[in-house]
Amino acid sequence: MAKDKLWGGRFAQPTNKFVEEFTASIDFDKRLYHQDIRGSMAHARMLGKQGIIPMADVEAIVHGLQEILEQIEAGKFDFSVSLEDIHMNIESRLSAKIGEAGKRLHTGRSRNDQVALDIRLYLRDEIVEISAYLEMLIDSLIFQAEENLEVIMPGYTHLQTAQPILFSHHMLAYVEMFSRDKARMEDCLKRVDVLPLGAGALAGTTFPIDREHVAELLDFPAVTRNSLDSVSDRDFALEFMSASSILMMHLSRFSEELIIWSTSEFKFVDLSDGFCTGSSIMPQKKNPDVPELVRGKTGRVYGNLMALLTVMKALPLAYNKDMQEDKEPLFDTIDTVKGSLKIFADMIREMKVNAGTMRQAAAKGFSTATDVADYLVRKGMPFRDAHEVVGKSVAYCLSHGKDLPDLSMEEWQSFSAMIGEEIYDSITLEASVNARRATGGTALERVMAEIERIKSGK
Ligand code: ARG
Repeated sequence: MAKDKLWGGRFAQPTNKFVEEFTASIDFDKRLYHQDIRGSMAHARMLGKQGIIPMADVEAIVHGLQEILEQIEAGKFDFSVSLEDIHMNIESRLSAKIGEAGKRLHTGRSRNDQVALDIRLYLRDEIVEISAYLEMLIDSLIFQAEENLEVIMPGYTHLQTAQPILFSHHMLAYVEMFSRDKARMEDCLKRVDVLPLGAGALAGTTFPIDREHVAELLDFPAVTRNSLDSVSDRDFALEFMSASSILMMHLSRFSEELIIWSTSEFKFVDLSDGFCTGSSIMPQKKNPDVPELVRGKTGRVYGNLMALLTVMKALPLAYNKDMQEDKEPLFDTIDTVKGSLKIFADMIREMKVNAGTMRQAAAKGFSTATDVADYLVRKGMPFRDAHEVVGKSVAYCLSHGKDLPDLSMEEWQSFSAMIGEEIYDSITLEASVNARRATGGTALERVMAEIERIKSGK
């Protein structure tokens, strides 16, 4: 008999053992225990206030739930697979504890609106935490920018030396990316932070419930407006997972740069030993495991988003059991994003920057060629012609094993009579960087102003 089940009434046969295991979610949804209990307490209080259940029952329910909460937190609660999920594990324990009153808790509620509530309660706290981790990472980036304010490095396009930039400017590029991630998280929070409870199984409830009161008790600024949508909507989780995927993509690009920068070929940075591991065979190795793993974990966060999008894609309204598959990818995304941000915030703070190596690299690869062209433009030559002149001087340098700053005045003038002595000052690394003064440029004064702006929180 399925008499041990809270829904056993209409069943004559017991549930097949493997079906029980297969359909259960308790192994992963038990992490919602706190939210489930908090939601049930608020629901019970509202039922009491509305005169739907006796006040004495409300007291017993709240007290009983409090005890269950303490038991779970002390690790003294036996979760049972035959009770399927966290909702029924807790409710059934409550009824065993306090009898009749416990059996009144589920009045005017369904597991469908209950689970939607639990996930929203859970996710909103996690988003606040993720925002705080993003803030920590941004602080580490600002720290590195200030420590290495004037360090010059090569800027790349196509991973080929392009123009010299400040290392601090490069750090601030990531500040921009992670600030957008934070804004996306906070925007998504607005849609997470809505109370779905009161939708019942799908159509609402016949009891005179007060949803706004529950919202107030649980600190929700709004309630959902359509019962069908309330129990079948997982957009808020998808939005969070999309924002997380973009965030991980940023961490992955940063990882890739750190991996390249810490090779013996580049030697731009040293990641501290605590964030690297050695090789079991090659004694000289120090591998950048942390950025590699974060780059790898980006794949699972994308996969999680795809998994939930695919779960949802053809579901008819309203609730379908398919939706139980929302939790593992969601939880995994939360854990992965939090872990990656935390480890990055610490790793970036401890990273050592090799200013000399960066500077040497920045001086190579004709990185100031554009500055020669800009110099000619300031002298009156149209940009396209200037581009041609400089292209020829680069070709000359390549065939003569020279660099642009090595050219004599005679050599310069063979490319254009417009070139004068000032050329030498125009193509130093500092001149190149500091000439880029417009908003968003890499000039020192501009970078310093950006750091101030970011620190003042504007
Ligand atoms: N464990 C279920 C889930 O995670 C709770 C909702 C179950 N509702 C139902 N009608 N079977 O989705």
